[in-house]
Amino acid sequence: MLNAPAADRNKEPILSVLRESLDPAKPLQALEISSGTGQHVTHFAQSLRNVVWQPSEYDHQSLASIEAYRAHYRLANVKPAVHLDASLSHEHWGGIEPESLDLVLNINMIHISPMACTEGLFKGAGALLKPQGLLLTYGPYAVNGRITPQSNVDFDQNLRQRNSEWGLRDVVLLRSIAESNSLFLEKMVDMPANNKCLLFRKESVV
Ligand SMILES: C[S@@+](CC[C@H](N)C(=O)[O-])C[C@H]1O[C@@H](n2cnc3c(N)ncnc32)[C@H](O)[C@@H]1O
Repeated sequence: MLNAPAADRNKEPILSVLRESLDPAKPLQALEISSGTGQHVTHFAQSLRNVVWQPSEYDHQSLASIEAYRAHYRLANVKPAVHLDASLSHEHWGGIEPESLDLVLNINMIHISPMACTEGLFKGAGALLKPQGLLLTYGPYAVNGRITPQSNVDFDQNLRQRNSEWGLRDVVLLRSIAESNSLFLEKMVDMPANNKCLLFRKESVV
């Protein structure tokens, strides 16, 4: 069971946003993309019992950690984690049926992976969410070309030095990628530590 201190700090604030956004009375299907250690999915599954969670990861060590969390908490509403590369087409995401999900959740991946992962995330979410389903992303973002505060500017520079394909993405760009996949930004929620939750709703475009 790996431990990410940031996940311990942000899991409760993200859970609050999930609570406000999901119907507690309906059975719901959720896919988490880049589940990391497994701390988030097991935390959310304990509180949101009406949601069946599908965790996923690209990294094999993280997949083993998610399985260790699952074994520890013995949650009936968390499925075994699947290997998922967000940069690949959703047909390679473990056989999830199109328009079968109520929620796609992605925490702290967009800024720390190549742009192809972000494009794949929105394309896959657009295909796999039911109409009116929700894509919730969490992390640090630029807004209208501006990154604030200075600590996020420094973080962005640090990421780009580590890997030229990483860096904070602009909400304007994410919005346009989302819209080409029938996903529309419904809400932007300020979160602790200069992060944000972005909530995209799947609408049918006629
Ligand atoms: C900063 S970690 C965040 C993990 C977790 N969501 C959290 O907040 O603790 C970034 C994650 O992105 C994942 N990742 C990197 N490339 C990926 C890809 N191509 N497809 C899916 N996930 C990827 C990494 O394996 C890692 O778990």
